[in-house]
Amino acid sequence: METSRSVSFLKNAWYVAALSTEVGPDGVFARKLLNTPVLIYRKQDGTPVAMLDRCPHRFVPLSMGLRQGDDIVCKYHGLKFDCSGACNRNPHGNGHIPRAARVRTYPLLERFGFLWIWMGDGAADESRLPDVSPLTDGHPHSVGFTYMHRKTYYELITDNVMDLSHVDHLHGEIISTRGQLTPQVPQVKETDNTVATRWEWKQTPPIFILNQFLPEPQAEARHFVEVKFMAPTTVQLQIGATQEDVPLDLENCVGQYDLHTTTPESDGTTHYFFATRRNHIEDDADYNAAKIKGMHDAFVDEDGPFVDAQYVAIGNTDLLSLNPVLLSSDVGAVRARRLLRSVIADEGRGAQPEAAGTQAHAAIHA
Ligand code: FES
Ligand SMILES: [Fe+2]
Repeated sequence: METSRSVSFLKNAWYVAALSTEVGPDGVFARKLLNTPVLIYRKQDGTPVAMLDRCPHRFVPLSMGLRQGDDIVCKYHGLKFDCSGACNRNPHGNGHIPRAARVRTYPLLERFGFLWIWMGDGAADESRLPDVSPLTDGHPHSVGFTYMHRKTYYELITDNVMDLSHVDHLHGEIISTRGQLTPQVPQVKETDNTVATRWEWKQTPPIFILNQFLPEPQAEARHFVEVKFMAPTTVQLQIGATQEDVPLDLENCVGQYDLHTTTPESDGTTHYFFATRRNHIEDDADYNAAKIKGMHDAFVDEDGPFVDAQYVAIGNTDLLSLNPVLLSSDVGAVRARRLLRSVIADEGRGAQPEAAGTQAHAAIHA
């Protein structure tokens, strides 16, 4: 029998609201996050601010209004708000500003190429920002960012990244492992707030996205890939290959560091943010542009239809409550789901989860 559960999001957490590049120096940017309309804009000094995208007078979106310096003016009846959400001008009557003329604002951090928002009622805790700092270390032409909108529930995207055995079946030649992932039972490491899954294998020729940067592009190479889930919705991925007798890590292999992170938009739609930083031909801008486009297209064209179809099939019913067939490759994704359930339950009981990023790199070189 199916067990329905209501959609659940961890509220007290940093979620990506937008790529830094999505919010320009002028104008306003509007996006629904966690079922809440949010307005984001940059002050004249470039600092981004976020507030509820709803005028407290007649509840129209403030994003339909006008920027005036660091303030925003509602276009319907002209109330003006500063970036702390306080009304600082009422053009009506004697100009008295009603106490209720205030808009909720949200803490925002600009880090690692993203704008991270805290929408919970608990104090915004910067130490709980996921540590994805490898994205910021390197040449500007060796990193790319992209955004996708999906009609699915966010945990189904986490499942997709945590179980990379799908690469052998769903994806094409570019990231083919020649079927090497599927027979393996991946290694899993778990901490209080992370789940990491790792695969190691040999293949000939090496994986296509890396082989052209190896000494012998058609010869056997050792490979590794590791995904690490950081609750609630962030997964970092590292993949590398080598033909030398060196440790399988990004310091010694030709490879890349990827970030997958999602933010629920509504109960059945999700913002999907992706970034990738490679450690080879780091100054090649043309290759960089082609690479991020290729990865974006692979998610949209290959993974996307499957995670969307899962949502059509099961909606917000808890996947594990449906007694799915469990395969050896599911271990990381299932543990990530259980970890998320547990931090959401802790939040419901009033407990504060630990910093998500504290051990972001602990297992990278394991
Ligand atoms: S709806 Fe904004 S001022 Fe009236
Ligand atoms: Fe995929």
